[in-house]
Amino acid sequence: MQNDEIPPLSGWSEAELDRAFAAVAAEVEKSAASIRSPDDKEQFRLAWLGRKQGRLKAISDAWLKSAPAEAKKQIGQRFNTLKAEIEQRLEQAGAGSSDSALNAEAIDITLPGTRRKLGAEHPLIKTWNEIVAVFQRMGYSVGVGPEVETDYYNFESLNFPPGHPARDTQDTLVIVGQERKPLRDRLLMRTHTSPVQIRTMEQQPPPVRIIIPGKVHRNDAADATHYPIFHQVEGLCVDTNITFGDLKGTLDAAMKAFFGSSVKTRFFPSFFPFTEPSADVQISCPFCGGSGCRKCKQSGWIELLGCGMVDPAVFGFVSQKQSLYDPARISGFAFGMGIDRIAMMKYGIGDIGLLYSGDQRFLEQFA
Ligand code: PHE
Repeated sequence: MQNDEIPPLSGWSEAELDRAFAAVAAEVEKSAASIRSPDDKEQFRLAWLGRKQGRLKAISDAWLKSAPAEAKKQIGQRFNTLKAEIEQRLEQAGAGSSDSALNAEAIDITLPGTRRKLGAEHPLIKTWNEIVAVFQRMGYSVGVGPEVETDYYNFESLNFPPGHPARDTQDTLVIVGQERKPLRDRLLMRTHTSPVQIRTMEQQPPPVRIIIPGKVHRNDAADATHYPIFHQVEGLCVDTNITFGDLKGTLDAAMKAFFGSSVKTRFFPSFFPFTEPSADVQISCPFCGGSGCRKCKQSGWIELLGCGMVDPAVFGFVSQKQSLYDPARISGFAFGMGIDRIAMMKYGIGDIGLLYSGDQRFLEQFA
């Protein structure tokens, strides 16, 4: 910053004034360009605008005061422009560096940023969506029903009469204080997704092709493979001339779509009150190809679902509301599988409780 003497003006013509002020403006620009810190800025301000020693004051003293009256106006205008320019430089140079309010907001760009953890689809929901998608591609639509269900829909209409021993395999939690209601109207936590079969058929005439994913509850003590909450996917297909062959073909195609085309299926006789005949379905182990490994307990096969032809008695219950479900004219098949079990098998999860623990260390492995 210079504090040199002010060169005297060599004349009062406009050209001479322009030249002299341009020289000062060049000086201002040069000294403004070297401002690096708040201290520099203050130096600049004092050097140019300081009341006593500022160069602007010196210029004014040297040029304006001694000027003849006719030139004063010309000098004054140029002087004002120069001052405005100095003030503008000061403002620009200062942006963010000396204003303490702005300084307080300044960020340290070398600090690590706030890390936002990426969410991940829960392995259960992922499996749920994948199974549903397989059946959607086969033309099934998706249905839902209530988790708090009546005894009628959960049991009776599915051909579990009151006191039937098959009810014991699906003990559940019941809603309190309903002793005065007839048994069929009492509320409980549904033990399977099958009641949605009945609800769906009551809502629409045949044909039906529906897939029903959902949460179910049973009075099971928690261990590595049991939990009082779990999930099922139910399927129902009803039309004229639906046969056990359709059931086998559908499930075989679905298992191949889900686990890979080399997977085989096999069917064993089983029992469910609402299907007749009933079957349990096994798939050849998708991990070892059937030669035997830990996941299939060396057997080469894994049991995956229950299924069967809809029992005529079930159509009998439905036809109280939808007369087109006449077991003499239509037939159908149903199947059900546990989503938790399939997810555990697919991802090698040894304890079902992990699916419900909300432990991020477990969940982030699926991100
Ligand atoms: N609801 C049966 C269960 O939970 C599974 C099933 C569904 C079996 C549909 C046959 C047909 O055990």
